[in-house]
Amino acid sequence: MEASFDFGMIGIGVMGSNLLLNMADRGYAVIGFDLKQERADALEAAAPAGTTVKGVVDVVAMVQGLKKPRKIMMLVPAGKPVDSVIENLLPHVEKGDIVIDGGNSFFKDTLQRITYLQDKGIHFFGMGVSGGEMGARFGPSMMPGGDKEAYQYLKPILEAIAAKAEGVPCVAYMGAGAAGHYVKMVHNGIEYAMMQLIAEAYDLLYRGSGFTNEQLHQTFFGWNAGQLQSYLLEVTTEVFKTGDDATEAQGDYLLDKILDKAGSKGTGKWTSQLAMDLPAPIPTIDMAVALRNISVYKEQRVQAAALYKPVTGKITVNDILLADLENALAFCFVIAYAQGLSQLAKASDELAMDIPLPAVIQVWKAGCIIRSALLGNFTEAYAKDAKLPNLLLDAGIAEVLQNREASLRKVLALGIGAKIPLGCMSSALAYYDAYCSERLPTNLIQAQRDYFGAHTYQRIDKEGVFHTEWQGEQK
Ligand code: 6PG
Repeated sequence: MEASFDFGMIGIGVMGSNLLLNMADRGYAVIGFDLKQERADALEAAAPAGTTVKGVVDVVAMVQGLKKPRKIMMLVPAGKPVDSVIENLLPHVEKGDIVIDGGNSFFKDTLQRITYLQDKGIHFFGMGVSGGEMGARFGPSMMPGGDKEAYQYLKPILEAIAAKAEGVPCVAYMGAGAAGHYVKMVHNGIEYAMMQLIAEAYDLLYRGSGFTNEQLHQTFFGWNAGQLQSYLLEVTTEVFKTGDDATEAQGDYLLDKILDKAGSKGTGKWTSQLAMDLPAPIPTIDMAVALRNISVYKEQRVQAAALYKPVTGKITVNDILLADLENALAFCFVIAYAQGLSQLAKASDELAMDIPLPAVIQVWKAGCIIRSALLGNFTEAYAKDAKLPNLLLDAGIAEVLQNREASLRKVLALGIGAKIPLGCMSSALAYYDAYCSERLPTNLIQAQRDYFGAHTYQRIDKEGVFHTEWQGEQK
């Protein structure tokens, strides 16, 4: 086959096919490989008139059909499948070719693959892709990381297909090594936190005060038109008004029939684990992961609910409380982003990834799951200091938080009184209160550590490292 194609894809399920069709719409000749003939056929059948789209079941044909340096992306499940694809490709690719892993791979696996392929002269990119099927077809948000020189070959294609926020593509070079997968992982950690925060607001209104799905729809619809405007709120608004097709009963809502157990594929957990390693404190993301895990213990929760008193409080909702809840949610969203971004800042330094935080914000502005109006505020903050270690240190963000802090305290008090678990919201406030405290009670922890383990401590009035024989020193 003549080498006439611009881009190759391994794995042409819905995501892979949609990305190729998106490229084809922009004038690129694309070729997709899959072991299943029906998928190759389906890809060609879906190609709009006038585009160049080919589906093959022979990986060698795909590789030979590509212009050099070859640009090959794989969209296969994270883990072993990625390594198998690499091994299958290796005999056919050559020095200078570019291989992209567009899945949610663990960043340490990506680092190993980069090193392994570097020796063979192949550029390996870990690229986070967000936005699901529709995003892939009409504009995803993409987070590529890897060899900076090689990125020049990917840039035009990726920019052409990416979502645009005010005309600017939501794709950018995210840094060296596995930075692309690291950024996507943290994106997902923030996604977990925002989803849990929204769920807590729902819980407060639904179980805490008996809001109907219709009232929830109206409330969230209103919020999505204001400061909370975001993809996740938009989705939530739609969920509240979706009926249940599976039942005959009029007025049944699907949401009420869904089992309250949520699984996960690991990216939220990795965000927490790697944050602990750095260390970077991200308690709101940690709590979101933990609360998903609690949800899994359904049977034990049922037993415990029978043993302990269920929700007793009834919260009276009025417009003032709704405004407080809206402000509380905005506060917590900012904290969730701030935690994730502070992790990126720290990881970027520790792992020499050189992640450009202003570009991360730009990439998250459209196409991805955590896109929201709040990101505009972050652009302003990073315009003042591109290396800001924590958004909370920016005066503009401080104003946003200070104006909403009282609302969150009121909402939390109500939730505690009514036995509605607001774990993520509480953790956001605790993080804020701790981060903004010049003096923490950690002096006592240091004293305890030194008392029982001679771990030593530093003093505020003189330099050095000290140890006290505490039992002999009591006044
Ligand atoms: C996206 C999403 C997507 C998915 C994650 C999390 O950006 O399109 O982040 O990648 O949401 O895989 O999935 P789990 O909730 O199953 O962990």
